[in-house]
Amino acid sequence: MADWDAAFWDARYRSLDAVWSGAPNAQLVAEASALRPGVALDVGCGEGADAIWLAQHGWTVVAVDFSGYALERAGKRADKAGDDVADRILWRLADVTAEDDPRLPQADLVSAQFLHVPGDQWRRVLSRLIDAVAPGGTLLLVGHDPSDLHSTVSRPKDEDVYWSPVDVAAMLDEEQWVVEAAESRERFQRTDPVDHQHGHHHGDVVRDAVLRARRRGPAPHQSAE
Ligand SMILES: C[S@@+](CC[C@H](N)C(=O)[O-])C[C@H]1O[C@@H](n2cnc3c(N)ncnc32)[C@H](O)[C@@H]1O
Repeated sequence: MADWDAAFWDARYRSLDAVWSGAPNAQLVAEASALRPGVALDVGCGEGADAIWLAQHGWTVVAVDFSGYALERAGKRADKAGDDVADRILWRLADVTAEDDPRLPQADLVSAQFLHVPGDQWRRVLSRLIDAVAPGGTLLLVGHDPSDLHSTVSRPKDEDVYWSPVDVAAMLDEEQWVVEAAESRERFQRTDPVDHQHGHHHGDVVRDAVLRARRRGPAPHQSAE
């Protein structure tokens, strides 16, 4: 069983030139494209593809991860994307499970994509993410769906790190939140590069757990009147 700590993730990033595809996550693009850009918080930002995409779409981004290797790589990628992108992203090294971690900054979009932490720490992480959403802002949590535990595509083998969007939705106070999505979405995930001879990709259908909720309040950048 993996430990899920910073040393585990650092070793994983160190072992490969790129762990992730470099493309932004599908559910982020689907959900954030129609939002009015403001301040975004990307928690567990990894190699930075989502933060870079958000910056390219007008957001100012605070991107948090506890792997220094991941952040270094992410910063270099942002530099390559140009000053207008790099200048919009603040990379922050922090462990969101740490008991003494300072509060996360308030943001109009709080996104955590495939941030899987051990079950006993998930509640604390979740309340930090929830608290960070500004009035009128959006919480977007995307993870591997629990039904993917036995997928042929590489997935965490530890049942304890999965969460269900319905359970998260149940934690949100209806007076303060509007749940806009709490569901599983199927997606085809490639497992290796295109097979040019046959013109297709190998892979499998996977499921993303998606929770999107809006904190009641004036829409970001609008007055309360
Ligand atoms: C599965 S990766 C996803 C990376 C990125 N969001 C993406 O979708 O490509 C999970 C990321 O969360 C980070 N992470 C895991 N636990 C964390 C914690 N307690 N505090 C901060 N970052 C964490 C890991 O270092 C890793 O980069």
